[in-house]
Amino acid sequence: MNTLLGYRRIAEGIDPPYDHGAYVSTHRRAPKRPLVQIAHTLSEITGPRLGAEMVGAGDTDLTRFAGGEALGERIVVTGRVLDEDGRAISNALVEIWQANSAGRYAHDVDRHDAPLDPHFSGVGRVATGADGVYRLATIKPAAYPWKNHYNAWRPQHIHFSLFGPSFATRLITQMYFPGDPLLKLDPIYQSVPDPAARERLVCAFDIEATVPERALGYRFDIVLRGRSATPLEGDAKGGVR
Ligand SMILES: [Fe+2]
Repeated sequence: MNTLLGYRRIAEGIDPPYDHGAYVSTHRRAPKRPLVQIAHTLSEITGPRLGAEMVGAGDTDLTRFAGGEALGERIVVTGRVLDEDGRAISNALVEIWQANSAGRYAHDVDRHDAPLDPHFSGVGRVATGADGVYRLATIKPAAYPWKNHYNAWRPQHIHFSLFGPSFATRLITQMYFPGDPLLKLDPIYQSVPDPAARERLVCAFDIEATVPERALGYRFDIVLRGRSATPLEGDAKGGVR
């Protein structure tokens, strides 16, 4: 019989708590009772796997949409998707969504009084190559206000969703930009307890990824969960955890 390994549990301090004092809406949605940890099931450890077949023409370049060029500062966002053991994860679906260069989402519920851009959808997707590398061209999003507290502004950010080799490796996160003065005031960014983990949410300017005459390059590597340790042959404790 094949032994299926579960995935490692997330270490303390990496993920934000469900209820974070300064992030007001977490109070309503956080569980009120302690969580019950259950073993990973077969359907979490296996697929269905989503990858390159989900990516359509134009999905990797958000700088052009509906027959025109989006307004704003063009950027390239690239990096590697790795597991916790540093192995490249190939054919992982990377999806992004973001505000435009005026800080407005092309979404019905966004009522921010900033202009929409008819040539910017704000959504994109790409699959990693054999070396785990992804690359997207987009527009640098602007900061936007939100109602969390008086004069609250989200730092410039891009939302990321990743599907790795299984549902247990699904990751939804946000990427921030270096030097943003709003980071120290943002309850969402600050809700990540470990300062080193927080830093990993900030991309790095990269001249190598910069396209001459076209777009500044930013590097953002992403680590998905790794498998639990490989059990020794015949180890009765090996298996789904
Ligand atoms: Fe956002």
